[in-house]
Amino acid sequence: MSNKQNHAQWSSKVGFIMAAVGSAVGLGNIWKFPYMVGESGGSAFVLAYLLCIALIGFPILVAEWMIGRRGQKNPMDSFSDVAASEGKSRNWAIVGVVGILGAFLILSFYSVIGGWALNYMVKLGSGTFTGLNGEAVEGVFNGMLASPGTLTIWHTIFMGVTAIIVALGVTSGIEKASKIMIPMLALLLFVIVGYNIMNGGFAEAVTYLFSPDLSKLTGPDSSTIILSALGHAFFTLSLGMGIMVTYGSYLGKNISLLSMARTVVILDTVIALVAGLAIFPIIFSHGMDPAAGPGLIFVSLPIAFGSMTAGALLGTLFFLLVTFAALTSSISLIEPSIEFLEERTSMSRTTSVIVATIAIWLLGVAALLSFNLWSDVLIFGNNIFDLLDKLTSKFMLPLAGLAAIVFAGWVMSQDSVRQELGLSGGAWTLWQIVAKFIAPIGVIIVFINTLIS
Ligand code: PHE
Ligand code: NA
Repeated sequence: MSNKQNHAQWSSKVGFIMAAVGSAVGLGNIWKFPYMVGESGGSAFVLAYLLCIALIGFPILVAEWMIGRRGQKNPMDSFSDVAASEGKSRNWAIVGVVGILGAFLILSFYSVIGGWALNYMVKLGSGTFTGLNGEAVEGVFNGMLASPGTLTIWHTIFMGVTAIIVALGVTSGIEKASKIMIPMLALLLFVIVGYNIMNGGFAEAVTYLFSPDLSKLTGPDSSTIILSALGHAFFTLSLGMGIMVTYGSYLGKNISLLSMARTVVILDTVIALVAGLAIFPIIFSHGMDPAAGPGLIFVSLPIAFGSMTAGALLGTLFFLLVTFAALTSSISLIEPSIEFLEERTSMSRTTSVIVATIAIWLLGVAALLSFNLWSDVLIFGNNIFDLLDKLTSKFMLPLAGLAAIVFAGWVMSQDSVRQELGLSGGAWTLWQIVAKFIAPIGVIIVFINTLIS
């Protein structure tokens, strides 16, 4: 087994932050968060999500970086080496394997949605939505879904661009560009929010997202809502896949993990919440269904772009930025599979890129057929697309994340942890309470609760 990775370190905090933010901010914020809120009925999900981010996602992000920085290797070997250095079993490497598989599965359907964003960029640019009402906009979306050919073309382009970026080794350039693109994306979301404030539905959306409605968190659907929120916390922060472990392995000792994590978590959360405020007012003011599912942003935002000044231009730019954000995530999702093939087989880097891309692409085609030809193909009651999504978000990521925090809280020597985090006194006690008890027990309770109900 060779280790071809040359362990250069990030020369600056900025490079590291851009890579981590690039991976975190993506379709999870703009596409997935709003539709999950809608499917779960609003503020109860938002509250559960915020709690999961703060009490579980944040410490696990720190734990993954820390394990990578200690191990200085790929996720499998980092887990294994750090465990061995503490006199524990090397079987912890399994966590790294689950992560590689998780990233592989996620990218297959992520690329399909990235393809939707690309397609919408072109649709908006050609004025498809100008002057259309809600029903007509939904018609356009359903037309796209009904066509396996269209979906395949855009999925192929998205996957192809991802592969080219990774093959050419220009990922760091792409990550640098996100320094401009992500703020622009946020700015455009705020423009849509401004449009909403003037065009109705805003107050209703604020109530929908933020009114404390605890009855739903104790009602019959509560365990489903909370598990969705937990799964999404992992998805949106790119946790449980070894991606953040890998980033941590390139990180210099002098960088504060806690303050970096705070930056990433706040940015990611703010972008998701603003996306909610961009989308739900349009849904309400047009009498649309918030529980419409994965198409939610594609049936709502074009209505706004279709009726605002310079809407075609802004809409094109918006979907361009969404595609860009999706690409900075997809390059982080493909990397674990490539690295695995490169290090564990005799394939070259280029062959590894090609093999990983084709495998993920094929699975993506199976996923996109769920929206048309294979909509009746159900596995455990789910179509392929939903199955891939649920299996990863509700199962693999939380379990791998749980392993990471248990590892940081119980397996690593607490002296090394304290040194890694540079904590003392009350802050150190607080970290220990969260890492040893609150975060792992939180994940376990959500699981048990779901199994029972
Ligand atoms: N965090 C990304 C998003 O929110 C998706 C992603 C998940 C990226 C897992 C990498 C790993 O869009
Ligand atoms: Na995210």
